[in-house]
Amino acid sequence: MNKLFSGIKPTGKIHLGNYLGALKNWVELQEKYQCLYFIADLHALTIKINPDELRDHSLQLAIDLLSLGIDPKKAVLFRQSDVIGHTELAWIFNCLTPVSELERMTQFKDESKKQPDNVNAGLLTYPVLQAADILLYRAESVPVGEDQLQHLELSRIIARKFNNRYQRYFPEPKPVISPARRVMSLKYPERKMSKSHGEASYIALRDDEKTVSQKIKKAVTDDQGVLNLLELYSYFGDLKKYERMMNEHKSGKLMNASLKEDLAKAILEFLKPTQEKIVYYENNKSKVEKILRDGAKEAQKIADQTMAQVKQLVGLK
Ligand code: TRP
Repeated sequence: MNKLFSGIKPTGKIHLGNYLGALKNWVELQEKYQCLYFIADLHALTIKINPDELRDHSLQLAIDLLSLGIDPKKAVLFRQSDVIGHTELAWIFNCLTPVSELERMTQFKDESKKQPDNVNAGLLTYPVLQAADILLYRAESVPVGEDQLQHLELSRIIARKFNNRYQRYFPEPKPVISPARRVMSLKYPERKMSKSHGEASYIALRDDEKTVSQKIKKAVTDDQGVLNLLELYSYFGDLKKYERMMNEHKSGKLMNASLKEDLAKAILEFLKPTQEKIVYYENNKSKVEKILRDGAKEAQKIADQTMAQVKQLVGLK
C-alpha cells in the first residue's frame, strides 16, 4: 500500500477551518493508504512558545485528532520529537540544500515579517526538517493545503539531490490534493478562517454552545459573509434546507437571523459527539499517552531502517 504522511503543528486550538480543510480528509484517507500522522512539535519551536503550553497543546492536539476519527488501529499517530531521526536526517539534508532555495520560500518571508525580532535559523531551515519528516518514512503521498505546496516541492528537490549525489533511494513525495474546503473567517469574509484574526473569526472544536452561538450571531453579513455562512451550513446542515435557503438568498428573502440560528444548531450537532470524545480522552490522558507511545514505536521502526541505510550511503557508517 502507498505510504501517506502528514503533520500539524501544536500551536493552538483546532478550528472548523482545520477540520474541513485537512483533518476530515485525513480521516477518510485512513481507508485507502498506510497513514502516518504526526504532531510537529519541533516545528512549533520556530515561534516563541511557552514550554508548558507546547506540552499541553501537543497532548490536546492528539486528543482532538483521536476525537475527530483518527484511529490508531488504522493510522500511526505520533509526536515528532518522540522519534529519533527527524533532526538527524534534517542535518544531512541541510548539507544538500542551497540557502537560496530556502530564502525564496514564501512562508519564510511571511513568518520573518510576522516576527522580525525572532528570525531564527529554524525558520529558514523549517522546510528541510519538513522534508526529513516525510522522507524518513519514504512516504510518497502527502496531503497538504495550498500553502504547503512550495515546501513539498522543496522536499522533492531535496530527494532528487540526495538520489543524484548518493544513490537512488528516496521517492519524490507528491501532494494529495484533497477535496479540501477553504473555510472563510467569520469576521473577514474575504480571508481564510485562521487563528491569527482573533477568537471571533473562527469556531474552535472545543467551543461551548454559548460561544458558538455568539460567534455565529456576530458573524459579518455583507454579501460575501452571507455566502460563507450558507456554505458552512452546506457542510454541517441539511442539504434540502440549504438549497431552500440559497433560493431565498437569491430572491432577497433570506433572513440573516434565521440562517444564523440554523447554522449554529447544525454546527453544535456536529460538535457534540466530538466534544464528548474529547471529554473522555481528557479524563483518560494516560490512554492518549499510550497511543502516542505506541505510535512512536511503530514510526521508530521505519525511521531506524531508513537512517541505517542513509548513514551507509552517506559514509557515516
Ligand atoms: N508545515 C506544515 C504546516 O504548517 C506542518 C508539517 C511539518 C508537515 N512537517 C510536515 C506537513 C510534513 C506535512 C508533512 O502545516
